[in-house]
Amino acid sequence: MHISIAKETAEFEKRVALTPDLVKRLCDAGHSVTVEKGAGSSAGFLDTLYKTAGAVIAKNFADVVADAQIVLKVGPVAEKQVESLKPNTALIAMQKVHENKALFKKISKNKVSAFALEFVPRITRAQSMDVLSSQSNLAGYRAVIEGAYEFDRALPLMMTAAGTVAAAKVLVMGAGVAGLQAIATARRLGAIVSAFDVRAAAKEQVESLGATFVEVDYQESGDGSGGYAKEMSEGYKQAQAAKLLAVLKNQDIVITTALIPGRAAPVLLTAEMVAEMKVGSVIVDLAIESGGNCALSKPGITVTKNGVKIVAHPNMPSRIAYNASQLYAKNVYNFVQLLISNGDELSIDFNDEIIKSTCLCHDGNLLHPVFEK
Ligand code: NAI
Repeated sequence: MHISIAKETAEFEKRVALTPDLVKRLCDAGHSVTVEKGAGSSAGFLDTLYKTAGAVIAKNFADVVADAQIVLKVGPVAEKQVESLKPNTALIAMQKVHENKALFKKISKNKVSAFALEFVPRITRAQSMDVLSSQSNLAGYRAVIEGAYEFDRALPLMMTAAGTVAAAKVLVMGAGVAGLQAIATARRLGAIVSAFDVRAAAKEQVESLGATFVEVDYQESGDGSGGYAKEMSEGYKQAQAAKLLAVLKNQDIVITTALIPGRAAPVLLTAEMVAEMKVGSVIVDLAIESGGNCALSKPGITVTKNGVKIVAHPNMPSRIAYNASQLYAKNVYNFVQLLISNGDELSIDFNDEIIKSTCLCHDGNLLHPVFEK
């Protein structure tokens, strides 16, 4: 099988789809691998490492995909690259389909088979391919580091001969994969951590990490399908805002991670709420790529409002690109195994739940329910 790794072109993207150790594994298993020049360099994986692993380096996108049966990427291809993709190629990436439906109509016309890794179902067999988890985990960690960096005070309690430094208070909004890692990281740094979420299961998970769960006084379950959250009612939102307003006044760092699949992120922090926060406090908005959880967040810019810093780095996993690439690559490698079990022919088994859930288009047909909406 001929597998190619293309270079990312999107702004803020530093990750690479496959790391040299996994390229070596594919080469050792008899596959041939081509890597676009510089594909891994911003994540710390230089071309020489790929060459040593057995890959051939191609000078541009057209060359890297020319003979490829499988093309691996982190994000979607750029529109101008679509014409270089050959029919029957499998294109595997986090495709951001909701934002790119027109792109996939074009890709489908070219008879490319596109797979969206963000749609890997959350079933036990697919855990090792779950890119949302692997990337969110690192994003949650990094969000705390970014917050601590912008916060010009200490996080842990320090008792010294010159006096006591109080421990910082960190609030995590949304206790999914990123939020739980943010809680664990902030706790490791010595902060006093509290968190909240709309899903019932979150309370126990938050408490098991040693953080306090913030209860909203309103009877409504936030559990949607597939373990994800649903959009909450207006009544809940008002109760949540009132509770938050009281809690926010005492916080030093607020990490927001709340997402609802396929929708804009819920706005949990309004300008009025930010105005109530302490001077010197920091908000890190991890949901910025879905519109943000804070009404004042600006992608890629640190905004200061009434002495409160609002940090909203797009693509947080890319700010820890080496590790994010390592984990993403492992997810991709495991996914690729589903397609390469048939000698030199791509095997696409639509009876496999993972293939069915991730395949966007095949043989000129758009297949995924996302295109029906
Ligand atoms: P996500 O990235 O879609 O959302 C992040 C968090 O925001 C979620 O916990 C969600 O409940 C919360 N949220 C949404 N709206 C909110 C609001 N208005 N206020 C407060 N919080 C809000 O979720 P993620 O991180 O992908 O995790 C969702 C669930 O899936 C978790 O329970 C996680 O443990 C579970 N999971 C299961 C896996 C498996 O079974 N293989 C793998 C990974 C995660």
